[in-house]
Amino acid sequence: MILSKDIIDEYDNRIRKKSKEVTFPLDPKYKKTIEDIIDMLKKSQIEEEAEKYNLRPGMGLSAVQLGILQRFFVIVYEYEEGKFETYVVINPKLKSASEEMIYVSEGEGCLSINRPIDGIVKRHARINVEYYDMEGKVHNLRLREELSIVFQHEMDHLDGILFYDRIDKNNPYKDAEKMRGI
Ligand code: NI
Repeated sequence: MILSKDIIDEYDNRIRKKSKEVTFPLDPKYKKTIEDIIDMLKKSQIEEEAEKYNLRPGMGLSAVQLGILQRFFVIVYEYEEGKFETYVVINPKLKSASEEMIYVSEGEGCLSINRPIDGIVKRHARINVEYYDMEGKVHNLRLREELSIVFQHEMDHLDGILFYDRIDKNNPYKDAEKMRGI
């Protein structure tokens, strides 16, 4: 099982590396990694389990956060109390993005960043993404609002970008009035 200590933080230089395209058929060791990430993310969102394993709640984790420089990530989204939708996303490509920008009002979080960071992270309200699943089958998804933000956050990880890179250093709340907070 994946624990907090297995997740590399912002001070580990691997977090800044660009991950490599995944080749198919998928290496069984990455299948195992994906199953472990799903399990961890789900547990992290269930209070009892999160406490038991000392996990911070998280919706997404990229392979690079485990020190694996491969272009894949997992998102576990609680769409209803106790009900989860899982996205296993391999070699994603951003196909299009809305002009409308949004941000998380309470600020974005990341399992690799263990300190509070203030400011606005500008994200597209809606995106279209093409990606592969574990079987190598191609998918096209249209995402909006929170899920759109989580996908953009995780796609950034594959290029070594952390959310605070997108916060204006001199004016962390710049352009807040021009965007919608969610
Ligand atoms: Ni993150």
